Amino acid sequence: MSTLRVVLGISGASGAALGLWVARHLRVLGAEIDLVTSAAAERTLATECGPEAQEELRSLVDRHHPIADIGASIASGSAPVAGMIVAPCSMRSLAAIAQGLDDNLLTRAASVQLKERRRLVLLAREAPLTLAHLRNMTSATEMGAVVMPPVPAWYLMPESVDDISRQIAARAVDLLGLGAPRASAWTG
Ligand SMILES: Cc1cc2nc3c(=O)[nH]c(=O)nc-3n(C[C@H](O)[C@H](O)[C@H](O)COP(=O)(O)O)c2cc1C
Repeated sequence: MSTLRVVLGISGASGAALGLWVARHLRVLGAEIDLVTSAAAERTLATECGPEAQEELRSLVDRHHPIADIGASIASGSAPVAGMIVAPCSMRSLAAIAQGLDDNLLTRAASVQLKERRRLVLLAREAPLTLAHLRNMTSATEMGAVVMPPVPAWYLMPESVDDISRQIAARAVDLLGLGAPRASAWTG
């Protein structure tokens, strides 16, 4: 059994590059990646990262599951995965996860991590936030998810949006505790 198998969900919030960066970091760690992208994510990926992004993403992952395939291996707790990152996580997907509404493979796989008490990291992106968004973040946190809004680490003096995305994705991957830290650390 490989403990270095991770589910990467990409939903349709802004910040599609975060998903790409998570895949790049996981690949460096040698993780096996099961990818599931929502229809809205396909659109944000193309809009924000360009037409080549999908191709690169596919080249980085081991399996790209159709969002409607609720019979895929990752829909079951018996699939030996270490955890899941949703990067970015839309407010729609957050709401579905927070309410246990396993309505597609992304939200089902997220729910599986929670029921199996595995790590689930949600890069929930929206601003400003409604009370519904905040309540859903609270519910997800109460169930054991880590809600990690993709906020820049200004203290590291990033020079580009790519720097910011790389660092945020690295912090998310580090939360899975799979190997040597990928994120740059504040050295004091
Ligand atoms: C360019 C673009 C940017 C978007 N940005 C966000 C966002 O930052 N946060 C969010 O919650 N929804 C955002 N949306 C809306 C979601 O894509 C929409 O709610 C969708 O239904 C989410 O579905 P999904 O969770 O299945 O991906 C954006 C949509 C587009 C087209």
